[in-house]
Amino acid sequence: MRRIAIISVFLALLVSCAETKVQDNSISVIPEPMYCRADEGVFVIDKDTKIVVDELSEEMQRIAGFLNEKLSKAAGFELEIVKDGPMPRENFIAFMNAGLQSESYEINVVPQHILVDYGDGAGAFYALQTLFQLLPVEIFSQELQKRVDWTVPCCNIDDKPRFKYRGMHLDVCLHYFDLEFLKKYIDIMAAHKVNRFHWHLTEDQGWRLEIKKYPLLTEKGQWRKETVVGSLSSGVYDGIPHGGYYTQEQVKELVKYAADRYVTIIPEIELPGHALAAIACYPELSCGLEDHYETATRWGIFKQVYCPKETTFEFLEDVFDEVFELFPSELVHIGGDECPKASWKACPHCQALIRKLGLKDEYELQSYFVTRMEKYINSKGRQIIGWDEILQGGLAPNAKVMSWLGEEGGIKAAQQHHEVVMSPHYKYYLDYWQADPYSEPLAMSGPTTLRTMYDYEPVPEVLTQEERKYIIGVEGCVWTEYMPTPERVEYMAWPRMCAIAETGWTRSEKDWDGFAQRLEKHFGRLDGMEVEYCAAFFSPMIVFHKDTPHNMVVTMTVDAPGAEIHYTLDGSVPTADSPKYEIPFSINRSQTVTAAAYRDGRQIGEIKSKRF
Ligand code: ACM
Ligand code: ZN
Repeated sequence: MRRIAIISVFLALLVSCAETKVQDNSISVIPEPMYCRADEGVFVIDKDTKIVVDELSEEMQRIAGFLNEKLSKAAGFELEIVKDGPMPRENFIAFMNAGLQSESYEINVVPQHILVDYGDGAGAFYALQTLFQLLPVEIFSQELQKRVDWTVPCCNIDDKPRFKYRGMHLDVCLHYFDLEFLKKYIDIMAAHKVNRFHWHLTEDQGWRLEIKKYPLLTEKGQWRKETVVGSLSSGVYDGIPHGGYYTQEQVKELVKYAADRYVTIIPEIELPGHALAAIACYPELSCGLEDHYETATRWGIFKQVYCPKETTFEFLEDVFDEVFELFPSELVHIGGDECPKASWKACPHCQALIRKLGLKDEYELQSYFVTRMEKYINSKGRQIIGWDEILQGGLAPNAKVMSWLGEEGGIKAAQQHHEVVMSPHYKYYLDYWQADPYSEPLAMSGPTTLRTMYDYEPVPEVLTQEERKYIIGVEGCVWTEYMPTPERVEYMAWPRMCAIAETGWTRSEKDWDGFAQRLEKHFGRLDGMEVEYCAAFFSPMIVFHKDTPHNMVVTMTVDAPGAEIHYTLDGSVPTADSPKYEIPFSINRSQTVTAAAYRDGRQIGEIKSKRF
């Protein structure tokens, strides 16, 4: 017995040693580069490899530092950074400013060295993100990886983004998240070459940004006394106060952290609607129709909105003055969505203002509100972006539109030669289910699967070639009604955000099969970054299509490449020998579909079961 044990330990050792030698050197980058040619051979990074930079600026040192940061964690060594002097003969990674366009880069890997050409820091940084993905996935690990050769497959990559705006949004109002989590969020974005963090800071349910001139906004406005449990219609509340806000010092820290990773933070200060938390602190900002205003405790839309009075404009201008001090972004988000008109209809001041300005209705009053704020914001050298509804009553002259209601607003804005970011809710809202709602925690709507997000083409065909230029990018939106924890946010956002990042960066032809194959390897990187992503990719999705009262038609899909689905209808656990799903079929009320995905005879993912 003992001898067998010793032999098997020896065999296991042999196998594990052999494993280190059979390294996967395939190229698998997300977002996919514009051009990539794989060549024979590998370059190996070891302790003696030098990083050569042509300018020892603080910026290039910082960028080279990101490589050392990863190497020191995963490989246990750092590389010397050199400038000037004779070029090493071999075993170096050289960053050369070749005057390329902003964000563009070229990487040439040969067995002797790696050459990186760039034009600006963003280009060099993105080259580095690609280099990380050329290395074994273990480079993303937070722990020392002893048995990995740090090989980079020989290749030539010539890359640049399709869109200048590649955004990811986070609502920190419906639930608050601390600064450490936001830094990690930005790290993961940057690893996917996502360059805009749309920070949704004010809402009916909480005000999260310190404004020195109006201390109540955070002293009081950060709090709601409790939160609805379940959907907004349950009527059941948890009785637990929820709050949290960011000091101006924290904001500055995050803005710098993001900028170091080529992410611009776009703050959102909602107006004229979604303003109840501010109004609860300063009721004079409202139309004054109610005795008492309180930060909202459930989700949805509220009729208590800013009243377009001089004092309100003064307040908002003061708030934006402080915002401009904190955020260098040229673009600021002013919200503009879901502003009910009931209060304005009932407010004597609003009605008098409509008459005085010769406006047709409350929609035009909203346009007046937004346009007036735009004028102020433009006077400070900044530009506004707002949700679709800022089109109502006429678009402010220089506004950009974030199209969330669908594509119509985006199309209309592009036709009027206003820049547009596409984030239609049924394609790019990450608070929608990504897997079967039947077996998932509560989400907002959907499902909007990984595949749906991947397949979405953000430039509508109805636009002319000229109008298409106004679609400047895409954004994935993370509304956190049903995401009270960081883990939940990551679960909802990833890997679907990988699909949006790829659409934002890569040429427009879609290649789902290629993406799915690359994503499978990419999960190893997300694991290394400790992202709590959703693994629905490996499990069957069972869809019931209503037919007669007595039967349903069943379809099933699985994202993992090369996987097949086997299922049972009697409630038993399926095996690789159970019937294989080939085409849609019909079931009756007595049957339960239980399915699992298999590859090479082995089950992957979870068993999914669904009753009528
Ligand atoms: C939004 O989802 N109300 C922009
Ligand atoms: Zn009013």
